[in-house]
Parts: sequence; C-alpha cells; structure tokens
Amino acid sequence: MVDKITSLAEYFQKYQESVADPEGFWGKIAESHYWHKKWDRVVDWRFSGPGAPDVKWFVNGKLNITENIFERNMFMRKDQVALIWEPNDPCDPVVHITYGELFDRVKQFANALKNIGVEKGDRVAIYLPMVPELAVAMLACARIGAIHSIVFAGFSATALSDRIIDASAKVVITSDGAYRGAKSIDLKSIVDEAVEKCPSIQKTVVLKHTGDEIKFDAKRDVWWSDLIEGVSTENTATEMDAEDILFILYTSGSTGKPKGVVHTTAGYMVYAEYTFKNVFQYNEGDMYWCTADIGWVTGHSYIVYGPLLTGATSIMFEGIPTFPDAGRFWQTIDKYKVTHFYTAPTAIRALLAQGDKWVTKQDLSSLKVLGTVGEPINEEAWRWYHDLVGKGKCPIVDTWWQTETGGIMISPLAGLTPTKPSLATLPLPGIQPILVDPEGKELKGNGVEGILCIKYPWPGMLRTTYGDHPRCFQTYFSAFPNLYLTGDGAKRDEEGYYRIIGRIDDVINVSGHRIGTAEVEDAINQHPKVVESAVVGYPHEIKGVGIYAYVICDDLTDDEMNTIEDEIRATVTKFIGAIAKPDKIQIVHGLPKTRSGKIMRRILRKIGEGDATNLGDTSTLLDPGVVDEIIAGAKVEVKR
Ligand code: WTA
Repeated sequence: MVDKITSLAEYFQKYQESVADPEGFWGKIAESHYWHKKWDRVVDWRFSGPGAPDVKWFVNGKLNITENIFERNMFMRKDQVALIWEPNDPCDPVVHITYGELFDRVKQFANALKNIGVEKGDRVAIYLPMVPELAVAMLACARIGAIHSIVFAGFSATALSDRIIDASAKVVITSDGAYRGAKSIDLKSIVDEAVEKCPSIQKTVVLKHTGDEIKFDAKRDVWWSDLIEGVSTENTATEMDAEDILFILYTSGSTGKPKGVVHTTAGYMVYAEYTFKNVFQYNEGDMYWCTADIGWVTGHSYIVYGPLLTGATSIMFEGIPTFPDAGRFWQTIDKYKVTHFYTAPTAIRALLAQGDKWVTKQDLSSLKVLGTVGEPINEEAWRWYHDLVGKGKCPIVDTWWQTETGGIMISPLAGLTPTKPSLATLPLPGIQPILVDPEGKELKGNGVEGILCIKYPWPGMLRTTYGDHPRCFQTYFSAFPNLYLTGDGAKRDEEGYYRIIGRIDDVINVSGHRIGTAEVEDAINQHPKVVESAVVGYPHEIKGVGIYAYVICDDLTDDEMNTIEDEIRATVTKFIGAIAKPDKIQIVHGLPKTRSGKIMRRILRKIGEGDATNLGDTSTLLDPGVVDEIIAGAKVEVKR
C-alpha cells in the first residue's frame, strides 16, 4: 500500500525526513491523490502576526475529496464493500454497501441537494443517528462543495439551534427518530423545536428510519425518499480549491459557546488517509470497526474519510455497547471477523466492570489491532483490553488527537512501535510536539512534564473557528508565540514516549465526550432558582471524569430541596444534552472566591477529588469559611 510505513526503522527515517523537509515529505504523499490541478506550494504558514493563524496547504491545488474516494479507486473497488451497517437491534437486517453503490447514492443525493438549492459554500447541518444515510449525506455535501456541519444526535434542541445559527445553515438533514438500545428517540420534534429559532433554514430533509409518527410541515419538510425519487445518479464533482472548507465541527472549549472548528479540503484529506493507514497498519481484506459516532471527529476521520479514502471496509454501528447485553461488541467482532477495533477507554472500563465472561464466551481470534481514543486509558483497562480482548497478541494503539487536529497526532504504529500501557508513545511523521512550562519556556530532553504544544503545521490542522477568526488565534495561538496550544498536559518519559495527562484548561473529557465546564454552568444557571454555579471534573471509575456541580440557589423550601437536583439535571439536558448532566450536585451557600470575585476552581477540584489535605493558600479568599462548609457537605468522602 502506497505511503505505508512497514518497520520501526522506517518510521524513524520518515520522521527525520518529515522534520528536515516537511514540504518534500507531504508533497510526495499528496502525489498519490487525484488532483484537477497540482499545488504551487506545499505549505504556506504563519502562527503569528496580522490575521494569524494563516495556514495553507497545497496552495492553489484543485480537487474534490469524493473523487479521491470513488473515481480514483472505482476500477479496483466497485464491488468491494465500503460500509457495513450493524443496526441497533442485532436481529434486524444488516446492510452491506459496495463502493459502487455508495458512489451512486452519494451522486444521487448530491443532485437532490442541488435540486433544493444547496450550492457550493452553503452550510448543511446534519442531525442523524448512525445510519448509512449519514455517510451518504456528508459525502454528498462534499461532492457539491457544500460544507457539512454534523451535530451529534444526542445534543438538545438548544444546542442544535446554536450550531445551526452560528453556521447559518440552509438545510438540516434528520430522521423521524433514532434508536438507542431499547429506547427510541423522537429526533424530528427536537429538530422542529430547534428550527423555530433558525431563520436560515429553508428545508428540513427527513429520513424515515423508526417509522414513528411525526409532525410534518409540508412547506419546510421533505422526505429523503421523495427528494431522491427519480433523481439521476450522474454527477460531476464540483472542483474545490485545496483550502475550500470541507466541514465545520463544533467543539467545546474553556470559555463561551462551542466553536466551529473549520477543516479544509486537501490537507484534511491527505492527513486522514495517511494517518489511517499508518496508525492502524491497514491491509487489503481487513475488517475495520470504529465504534465512535460520526457526530464526533473520530467518526468523521476514522469511520468515513480515512477508511474510505484508503479503500477499506468500515463498519458503522447504530447501537450501544450494552444492548441487548454487555456482549454486544464482542459478538459483533465475531459476526464480521473484525480485524481492527477502535473504541474509547470509557467503553472498555464499562465492559470490564461487567465481568470477563462476555469476552471469554466469544472467539475474537480475528482481531489483529486494538485502538483507543478520546481520553487517557488507565493501566488496568489497558491490560484487560490487551490481555483478555486481544489475547495478548494485538498491539494497542493509544491515539492522541483532537477535533482541531483533524487526525491522529501521537500514537504507536500498530505492531511497529513497541507499546507501554497508558502511553500514546511517539509523534507521527510530520508532527513536531514540544513541551513548555507555564511561561512558555521549552522543556528540553526526556523525563519532563509540561504543556503540550505543536510547533509546526500539519495538513489536518484547523484553519479557523467559523465566523470568528480572532477567537481561533486567541484560543490556540496566543498563549505562546508561534506554538499551537493543545490544552493538554503531557509527560515525555526517559525514552521520549509521550503520556497524555489530561486537560490543563476548563475542558473535561466525560466518557470520552468533550465538555466545557463553562457551558454546563451556563446551562445550570438557566434554572430559575439557581443563583450561581461552578462545575469541575472529578475522577470517575467508568467515565474517567465525572461532572461535579456546586450550586448556589435562592432559598429553597424542603420540597424544593428534594427536587432541585433532578430539575438541575433536566435543565442541563434541555440546554446541552444528557451527556452533560452533572453526576454530583452539591447545593452550597457560597463558592470560594478571591477578593476580585474569581472562583478558585482549584479548591473545588481538590474537594471533588476527595482530598482537602493540600488546598494551598486560601488566605486570599473573600470568605475562607465557605471551604469548610463545602467540605462538610461534599458528595464525596474528603480527606482532611
Ligand atoms: C483527549 C477526540 C489521552 C485530550 C479525538 C484531547 C486523549 C481531547 C487521547 C480531544 C488519548 C484524546 N489519551 N487523552 N489517546 N485522545 N484525548 O476534540 O484531552 O473530542 O485534548 O477529540 O481528548 O477531544 P476531541
């Protein structure tokens, strides 16, 4: 397979090449793609100065990413399965879609989108469950140069409308409903509620999926099936500039509302394909399964774009790991003879807690490579995954990356890089990490711990935050001049391997989902009885990080006191979604604030961790007494 590294020695050699001559390195990789017109320069970049960041890859190149999935490979792959769809209910029929069929469906839906007025550069919001049409819709957007903005279908109407409004999306694509284990969810009414606040939306495309009855607005809504009825499958891809936007994906940060991370066409394409084939060491005939939802970046890059650009077979799973029972992942691996399995540490911990029997019951001998993503993996979970699931013979790729990075940044190459539990190991070729102290001074050598930054651009990196370029600079490039700030702390061990420690800002990874504590506070504060709140993460056995909310309320009656926690959870569900519901809520009379009114979250974090032995200097607090009150009423056992 072209551009696939096949030994550790070759990795080191490529890494050196990529640092010594990044343009030569990436230019050579991009040669294997299909271009209407080649680039003039491989990269043109600036992380500082007026208008920064200003990053362009494959400058003036012309292409379409879907031609690189379909036309480039069609001769070889027409009858090869591109996507396998495993439905929520394992008794329902499975769907196999070949590259040829997927191509036709994408072209047809692309034409259908054009028929309702979607043009190059328009934004299309997609709010769908994990069904094949989700992949069809995103690729159809890419085909005609429309910008997809996929919103995870677990987000609330408010969260959806915020994202639609920010991107001024013209069309939203959804379904009547979604299945989640034994439950079915009325997606359409969530969209209806959201769209009421979104004047930019001209059409809602509705896929019939659950068959549940829905409200249908004949002027605005159109059934997916009606939209494609009789529409041609002939479609010529729209020519895109290398730097035209491919998609927006909203993600949480430490402040404010989620921002629309912008990825552009050529760089993202080159990076998604290169990282997929190298990290997973994919071979022809392998069966690859990533359990993420396409609503997150992992699904974008490693269910759809990376695998399909490589010509792989990618499994799409509609369900959840515990339905109908806790053996679902392992049964599904046997069902399709999965060779590559990529999931989140939180799922591993949850299944570990269900006992070994679900795993040992299955054969699992098809497995060759295991992967994790989204949060640090603790050693116990790593060992269980390695020893029991992988029977000690499958390398684990602990892949560190972010929505902003577009693709995997630090990770072993499966079977080539020797692994150590809980370490993401080494940077991929082209990635130049640097650890700095809080003043921005580089921490050189090995055996150091600091703030993880990246000092040179890579093709898959974000270009801007949609509609607010200064915010992009402020968030990622202003802390330390000429460095991309990841927001993670990391340690480089004696061998030069990286261990990701976790976020250093007010972002938390709850069950591998990225949540801004400020967003949760904003949601809690919407409750009429709430005066103020402070949210921190605390160690949670299954979720990795749980959400702990300290809340000040107006005087509550005893009855109100009994219901307030549930009401607060319901408020968060309404404004963000169930994934952001606090695990622990403590009603307090005051929060530890400095004289200037700043909440000292460090203290709240410590209490949430159950350790008040070393709270540091509390003398600058406005009212040091609140700390004792909080410790006394804490929802965890606190060591004093
Ligand atoms: C965390 C997910 C430790 C990290 C692809 C990062 C990880 C955030 C790992 C991005 C890993 C991701 N080990 N931590 N292997 N992978 N993270 O944008 O804190 O949803 O900054 O992208 O997840 O989350 P996001």
